[in-house]
Amino acid sequence: MNILGISCFYHDSAAALIKDGILVAAAQEERFTRKKHDQNFPANAIRYCLQEGGIQAQDLNYIGFYDKPFTKFERLLTTYIATFPKSLPSFLKAMPVWLKEKLWIPQKIREELGETANLLFIEHHLSHAASAFFVSPFSESAILTADGVGEWETTTMGMGNDRTLTLTQSIHFPHSLGLLYSAFTYYLGFRVNSAEYKVMGLAPYGKPLFVDLILRELVFLKDDGSFRLNMKYFAYDYGLTMTNKYFHALFGTPPRTPESALTQFHKDLAASIQFVTDEIMVRMTTHLHNKTVSDNLCLAGGVALNCVSNSKVLASSGFKRMFIQPAAGDAGGSVGSAFYIYNMLLKNKRTSTWSNNFLGPEYSNEVIKEILRQLKIEGEQCSTDTLLKRTAQFIADQNVVGWFQGRMEFGPRSLGARSILADPRNPENYSRVNLKIKFRESFRPFAPTVLLERMKDYFEFDQPSPYMLFVAQVRSDRRTIPAVTHVDGSARLQTIVRDDHALFYDLIAEFEKLTNCPVLINTSFNVRGEPIVCTPFDAIKCFFRTDMDYLVLGNFVLDKQKIKESGYEMQIEETFALD
Ligand SMILES: [Fe+2]
Ligand SMILES: [Fe+2]
Repeated sequence: MNILGISCFYHDSAAALIKDGILVAAAQEERFTRKKHDQNFPANAIRYCLQEGGIQAQDLNYIGFYDKPFTKFERLLTTYIATFPKSLPSFLKAMPVWLKEKLWIPQKIREELGETANLLFIEHHLSHAASAFFVSPFSESAILTADGVGEWETTTMGMGNDRTLTLTQSIHFPHSLGLLYSAFTYYLGFRVNSAEYKVMGLAPYGKPLFVDLILRELVFLKDDGSFRLNMKYFAYDYGLTMTNKYFHALFGTPPRTPESALTQFHKDLAASIQFVTDEIMVRMTTHLHNKTVSDNLCLAGGVALNCVSNSKVLASSGFKRMFIQPAAGDAGGSVGSAFYIYNMLLKNKRTSTWSNNFLGPEYSNEVIKEILRQLKIEGEQCSTDTLLKRTAQFIADQNVVGWFQGRMEFGPRSLGARSILADPRNPENYSRVNLKIKFRESFRPFAPTVLLERMKDYFEFDQPSPYMLFVAQVRSDRRTIPAVTHVDGSARLQTIVRDDHALFYDLIAEFEKLTNCPVLINTSFNVRGEPIVCTPFDAIKCFFRTDMDYLVLGNFVLDKQKIKESGYEMQIEETFALD
């Protein structure tokens, strides 16, 4: 039984393949096309998934699509009519795309993948819910999904039980927690559907001074967490911007120009919207916990990528255990639509729990060797043992290392397969990696990866956080890792056990032997605006365009200094738009 799941045409297109109930491959289209958040039909990701599964398109039994495009179209038309004539410019902009592309999704899929498989369109929030529950370790669980918008739903609540999943409560467009957060993202001069996590990273620099104003004017929030937005202030339902003149008047200034200075006002505003988001999430999940008897909670949808809110939910909703899969946003809808078909519609026994996150392509030492040969780059091949020892020593000697090992991660976080690594004990690494390696804003925090068995020595947290989806306080008696400790003393934590990624685990263990520190800075292998690297060639280009000192590519070590001394230079033409 082969089921392909597809998500596309809004942002973060992706494909996933399950074979006899096992998720064998999943990848985002952006990694192949090198266009961040690529929303186009994921032809490359599909090709990869089929290849990884050793099958052809005609071997597919089902294809799941992660929303119902016609219902979405109906919502669009209804909204445009309700807000006419203000909506005319947005209507004129959206229509060609719909008429040319989005209304032809079934035809497009048939054209690309043939007529054999059954094609099913799964409601967007069911796809989100399924993407968490059916791969969760729970036989029963409460479920909450929250994102920008699906067809009409923006938030749903329900229950999963064995092979069934029911959503019983929902909030509808235009009232949306995701779009509220995106409205502030826009107003703060960041890119919507892309830079929401920058707002989250900025928040600890500010004070939540505007919470009362937001809850008085913008959001009508009830005790149970349900809410309505005061649409007087927002433009996303009719316009080409997220907020309007009333919103700008409320805060006394127009939206921040992208890349201009961030003032205390912006920081306070980020803190305020983060606070409100936390409050809404905690109230909703507390209500859900009171209504259900379950101790388990599955979260999904773009809002579930907000690790600060996730931690607040874990601390105070009453749920004992939480599961969020790392591609909680729309990319994960591909996985969800496939499992919805497999478990819910076809009633197959649940066979998959999310065991690791490395679902993308991998490249053997032979392939790497051949690429190096073609590029005429000198790389030194060494045994795994030597590789680990040398890499740990590089990092301890304050070098920044590109680390490329095994299958690529699925979802927005690098978890040890495509990572840039550095020593967290050195405070200078914070600005060095931000400014000279990643060319990104100086306020952005870095995440630590810690050996799970040493977690409690450094962090106030008591369960695994394998996907960097929770924040924890760094223990005040252990503030020896300044490069990964945010201004409020928190860190966006990844814990690792050897089963997650043996090489990465062994590397950190090796670093611990040298330094007594079981923690590394782990940031995604890319520069600002670039999708995480996929192939060895992507990694090599990224290595040469930055100040990285070493690149460890499979069993090969590339030494920047040595390569430069040999006179080698790489001309890199491609550039990435800032995100
Ligand atoms: Fe979305
Ligand atoms: Fe979504």
